[in-house]
Order: sequence, then structure tokens, then C-alpha cells
Amino acid sequence: MLLAFELSGEHATLPASEVVASLESVCQDFKIILSLDGCLIIEIRKDAGTIAGILAKKLSMTHHITEVLGIGGAGEEDVLDIVEKAEVEIEGTYSIRVKRVREYSTIDTESMEKRIGSIFFQRGAHADLKNPEVQLRLLLTEDKSIFGRIIFSIDRSAYEARKPHYKPFFYPGVLMPRVARALVNIAKPEKNLLDPFCGTGGILVEAGLMGFSVIGGDMQRKLLLGAKMNLCHYNIDHSLMFQDACREALRNESIDAVVTDPPYGRSAAIKAESLEYMLTGSLGEIYRVLKKGKRAVFISEREIEALAIAAGFKVAQTHIQRVHKSLTRRICILEK
Ligand SMILES: C[S@@+](CC[C@H](N)C(=O)[O-])C[C@H]1O[C@@H](n2cnc3c(N)ncnc32)[C@H](O)[C@@H]1O
Repeated sequence: MLLAFELSGEHATLPASEVVASLESVCQDFKIILSLDGCLIIEIRKDAGTIAGILAKKLSMTHHITEVLGIGGAGEEDVLDIVEKAEVEIEGTYSIRVKRVREYSTIDTESMEKRIGSIFFQRGAHADLKNPEVQLRLLLTEDKSIFGRIIFSIDRSAYEARKPHYKPFFYPGVLMPRVARALVNIAKPEKNLLDPFCGTGGILVEAGLMGFSVIGGDMQRKLLLGAKMNLCHYNIDHSLMFQDACREALRNESIDAVVTDPPYGRSAAIKAESLEYMLTGSLGEIYRVLKKGKRAVFISEREIEALAIAAGFKVAQTHIQRVHKSLTRRICILEK
């Protein structure tokens, strides 16, 4: 089955990376057919519906997962052609939504919805925009149009409800839950996940809600207590330790994923001789405790690739995230 993952526009590269890593965690047999701005088309040969259902519960940077019924050019006549040729049986009611990814297409979405509607009207199908049994979707990207049937929509409202200031303990400088969730997925945990600079536990909450054992460390007791309050609020089993990320009390190769957001040397306190010492020391410790073949997601403001390589890591990806005018984060995906 061909699936289209309609990606959120909040970041240029993280949403696709989240989809691919999440797929790698649950299925070996998939192929990326097309990687478009805003949409990833993937072929899954076995159990595609079940796999899409599992992913719909994990992903934070995807809007819809759609069964692809046709792919064609981006001109008006191409679009109508793929809709005409699509093999889709509508028993009951349907809706059609046309969505332009960014501003690539100049097609008027409303009038295209009407034209597609008249194709299905002629086939005897009944439209119901409020409560349709089949939701059809047409995506207009840079040079392709993708027509499909939504099989899962991701409920992103839960991430909004977990925004840092809605949690029992708030402290500034925390990642947004959607970003934290995507990074947990990119880290591909199997059983446990470590955040050695856990602060208020935002990353641990997202990993804990997915059922992973979560382990956090920090050098500020106040924040560890805050992390405890937040994790207990979501009923998450956890281990929290007052410990220096440069000297972890954990066995070699005992951890299968790390996601961490160490202080950048701005507002969050650095509990080390220097930023350089903290980055070098913590990367070395993360490498030591991580199992072979596993991933660490390490956020920083400055380039840490050379330090990560010196610690033994391979740098698999670097994502750049502009937070505001004077802060750009680098999100490095490291592999042992
Ligand atoms: C940017 S904050 C982490 C924010 C976190 N992602 C959250 O959700 O709240 C960085 C944290 O690193 C902690 N920290 C600073 N130096 C440390 C060290 N040497 N070892 C462990 N934690 C340290 C700080 O106390 C702070 O809580």
C-alpha cells in the first residue's frame, strides 16, 4: 500500500525524520517513494493499515496519514485526471478537501473541491462535510498532486494541553512537547530513555507517555523536584538522579536512547567548569552508557559535531531550528 504522510510545516526537516525513524522502529520492509516538501510517500508491503495506526499514536509532526489513490502533475487538468482515474469506492458519504502545501500551487482550492465533488456526484456519491464516512484529500505540492483517502488523523491537541506552563511545575527554557515527542521518536528507544540534563522533565514526560522507562539526571534539586511533580502528574514511572552529566552513575551500554537539551551557556545554569568541559564530558558519558548501534539526540547552540566524533559517535543528521532572532538550536542525531 502507498501511504502519504502529510507533514506539519513547523520545521523543514524534523517531521520527515520523525516519520522515517518511527517506521524503522516498527517495520523493516518499507520504501520511500517520494520525498516532497510537506509530504512523504512511503510504500509498505505488509500490514500497512496496522503500521499506520501504530504511527498515528506516536507521531507529533504529521497531520494525516492517507492511503494514496493517485499521484500526478500539479496542473488543474492533471489533478482532475488523477481523480477521474482513482479507484475509490464510496459507500455512504464523503468529503473532499484540497490543501495547498505552502504557496506552490495557484489552484483555487474551493473551486477545485467543487469540481472534484461533481465527479463523485456523477458517480452517485453523497457529500457530507461534517460527518463523512470517507475523507478524501488532495495535496498540491511543488510539482505534484497527491490524491488519497485519510486513514488516520493525528490528534495534536494533546501536545497543546501539555505545554510547559500547563504542567504542575514550570521553569523557562523548556522544549515544546511536540518537538520533544518528535526527538524521542527520532532517538528510536526500545525500552528505556535517558535525559542527563532533564530539567523539568519535558522530554521524559513524552517518552514516559509512550511507555518507555525514563531516567533523568540534573544538578539542580529544585528542578529534579519539579520533574518529579510533572512525571507523577502523568502517572509515569521514573528514575531521577542528582548527578553530573559528566559523571553518570550508570553501567556501560545500559541505555538504548538518549534525548537531551543541555544548557547553552545563556539562561540555564551550567554546573561545570566551562561549557566546553560540560559538552565534552557529557558526550563521552552518553557514548559510554549507550548501547552499540543506538542513537543520542543532542541539542546545542554551538556546533558539537567534532566533539561528538571525538567521543566515538557517527553524526547521522543535523537539524537547524530557529527559536527566535538570537537563538538557533542545532539538533544532532548521533549514532554509536
Ligand atoms: C536547558 S535545561 C533543560 C531543559 C529541559 N529539556 C526541560 O524540559 O526542562 C538544562 C538543564 O541542565 C542542568 N545542568 C546544568 N549543568 C549540568 C550538569 N553538569 N549535569 C547535569 N545537569 C546539568 C540545568 O540544571 C538545567 O536544568
